[in-house]
Amino acid sequence: MCQADIRVFGFPEIISQVKLARHMIVAIDGPAGAGKSTVARMVAQELGFRFLDTGAMYRAIVYAALCQNIPLEAPETLSDFALRQKIRLDNDRVFLNDEEVTNSIRTPEIANAIHYVADNVQVRTCLSELQRQFARTARNVVTEGRDQGTEVFPDAECKVFLTASATERARRRQEELAARGEKLTLDEILEQQNRRDERDRNRPVGRLRKAEDAVEICTDRLSTIEVVRQIVDLVAERRTTSS
Ligand code: DC
Repeated sequence: MCQADIRVFGFPEIISQVKLARHMIVAIDGPAGAGKSTVARMVAQELGFRFLDTGAMYRAIVYAALCQNIPLEAPETLSDFALRQKIRLDNDRVFLNDEEVTNSIRTPEIANAIHYVADNVQVRTCLSELQRQFARTARNVVTEGRDQGTEVFPDAECKVFLTASATERARRRQEELAARGEKLTLDEILEQQNRRDERDRNRPVGRLRKAEDAVEICTDRLSTIEVVRQIVDLVAERRTTSS
């Protein structure tokens, strides 16, 4: 039984021409560095949908386990511990057992250890259920992750698989790190990225893959606004064809 609890607050204003007459899930999946988070946030804002950052949930569990010295390599101990954590998403803010961890979960230490949690079948099952619970409460959701259109919301009305070439993703990451004062060569970043891609694409459950009915958008030569526009147009199109 999944004990973890997720509550979501904050209803952005409806600012789009896409009316919210009925339930809709927009699932955006793709590899790290394809621009999912920024794009998904903006699409949610544009449509007046709730934004669900599923990676933040995985990160919060790793953060909790590291803080409490829980052995990550012991799957059962880790999943027992994970199921007792309370994760709360409040728009862009992330709370773990009522402590705000929004920034603390975005560290290289967390990213390096995340595979222990992401590969853990019981943790995945629990987090997937929390994601569905989130969608039931929120009704209209833009969700982003690796397995949203395939495993968690296979019936999502609109699925997008966001990609970018490996070099472009590494270049973006390099810029992001430089803005935080961290200097890494492109080769170093590519090496980390390849390792992460390999793990994301090959985990036993919830692996990164494109859903058959997802629309693939390569963001290499597109601005963020152009990608957001494409997805908003796609949502509008799906609403028209399904109504
Ligand atoms: O999107 P992100 O970088 O914050 O995600 C962190 C990690 O969490 C990512 O390397 C893989 C894992 N993850 C996952 O396995 N399934 C998801 N739906 C979201 C993230």
